[in-house]
Order: sequence, then structure tokens, then C-alpha cells
Amino acid sequence: MTNVLVTGANRGLGLGFVKNYLGKNVNVVSTTRDLESSKELLALKERFPNNLEIFELDLLKVNAGYTLANFLRDRPVDILINNAGIGSTNQQFQEVSPKPWLEVLKVNLIAPLMVTQSIINNVKKGVAKKIYFLSSQLGSIEYNTSGGMYIYRSSKTGLNQVVKSLSVDLKPQGITVVSLHPGWVKTDMGGPNAPVSIDESIKGMIQVIDKTDIRDTGRFLNYDGKELPW
Ligand SMILES: NC(=O)c1ccc[n+]([C@@H]2O[C@H](COP(=O)([O-])OP(=O)(O)OC[C@H]3O[C@@H](n4cnc5c(N)ncnc54)[C@H](OP(=O)(O)O)[C@@H]3O)[C@@H](O)[C@H]2O)c1
Repeated sequence: MTNVLVTGANRGLGLGFVKNYLGKNVNVVSTTRDLESSKELLALKERFPNNLEIFELDLLKVNAGYTLANFLRDRPVDILINNAGIGSTNQQFQEVSPKPWLEVLKVNLIAPLMVTQSIINNVKKGVAKKIYFLSSQLGSIEYNTSGGMYIYRSSKTGLNQVVKSLSVDLKPQGITVVSLHPGWVKTDMGGPNAPVSIDESIKGMIQVIDKTDIRDTGRFLNYDGKELPW
């Protein structure tokens, strides 16, 4: 049976991944920042007691990766989805300041690699050996014609570079590493005016995950499978 791990799974796209994968009879380890308030995950746990595990994980805690590795021990992870992420306010040239910027970089750029570093042995034990990072088209340098959004854009541009290095480093071990843009999606982050539903985005991304393998490592892909420019 396939084992999937999704970070930031209590709402938005993370929860969408969990629901969709549980419908496919896959084993899911989901992480959430606050177990008690993760009502939808807890309700899913009652429906799928054998297929879903919930682990409390705050990416801002320095030992986050270590605690996750300790929880997993020697279990395989076939598909790792580094989904958790945050946006920011006051991102224009004259407003931007270091403190909120650093917080976003910690969550969106540094933590995903630290989590991956901590549990890479679990991915090596998996059959599929696939790692996906939720990036954003806003991180594309080529697509940046409107400026602004310094904080969020730079976190995802940096993440794309991390994905590229990781794809090169892990290729000899047969591990696929891909950067995914989910579309502009109706979540708390995307807002109500976003044109893409969670369901549409998740179905598209899962198709991309199913279809990609080591030949695709190091690519930056849209939820509909199209290539995106770095
Ligand atoms: N929605 C879009 O249009 C869009 C577009 C491009 C890329 N993305 C990317 O897609 C991913 C998911 O976005 P979304 O729209 O689903 O966002 P969302 O609805 O705001 O959900 C974000 C998730 O990340 C978790 N998270 C935030 N900070 C965390 C931390 N310090 N430790 C652990 N978990 C943390 C949140 O947990 P809490 O509930 O505890 O806060 C929540 O589960 C993000 O990486 C985002 O950048 C989204």
C-alpha cells in the first residue's frame, strides 16, 4: 500500500490531499500545527482509523524534523508532500521589513528542506521515492512582470532553487523531486476570488504526482501538468 505524508493538512490544499488520498485507499500521515482544533482531520480519523494518522508538527519549532523522524521511525514514505506554507501582509517595496520576512522564509523555504532532510531515510525505504514541494507561480522570475510581493515571491523562488539542488543530489538514489504550482486556489490563502477550486487543484496535482517519475526530477509543474518557467 502506498504511504503518503502531507504537511499542513488541517485545511486548504493539505486537507484536500488527505481527503483525496484516503478515497484512493492510501495510508496517509498528516501533520497539523494544532491537533485539538483540527476538527476535519479528527473526523476523517474516525472514518478511516486504519489509514490516517495525525501528527502535531509546527514547522517553526527548531526540532520539528527530528520529532517527525522519531514518530516515523523506520516506516517507508512513498510520497512526501511539503505543503504547509504562509503568505504575508505589507509586502510592497516601502512596507517590507525583516521580521515578517524571516518568518515566511522559515516556514516556506527553510522548513520544507529541513523536514525532508530529517525523513529522507523514510523516503529511501519507500517504493515510489517521490518528493513534491508546493511552490508558486509567484516564485517564477520569468513570470514576474508586476513586481511587489517581496516576501512571498522570494520564499518560493528560494524554494525552487532548493528543489533544483535536491533533485540533482537525490537523482543517483532514484528519488524524484518536483516543484508544484497548485493554481490560484480558493483556500484561506488564495481567497474567495481565486478561479480554481480545491478539488480541481488536488485532482490535477495528484495526476501530476502519479505521472511523474525520475525522468521528471527537477521540473517546475503547474497543477495541470504544464511546465512553468523558473
Ligand atoms: N492557495 C493558493 O492559491 C496557492 C497558490 C500557490 C501556492 N500555494 C501554496 O500551497 C500551499 C498550501 O496553501 P493553501 O492555499 O492550502 O494555504 P492555507 O489554506 O493558508 O493553509 C496553509 C497550511 O499550512 C499550515 N502552516 C502554516 N504555518 C505553519 C507552520 N509554522 N507549521 C506547520 N504548518 C503550518 C497551516 O496550518 P494552520 O491551520 O495551523 O495555520 C495550514 O494547514 C502553500 O505552500 C502555499 O504557499 C497556494
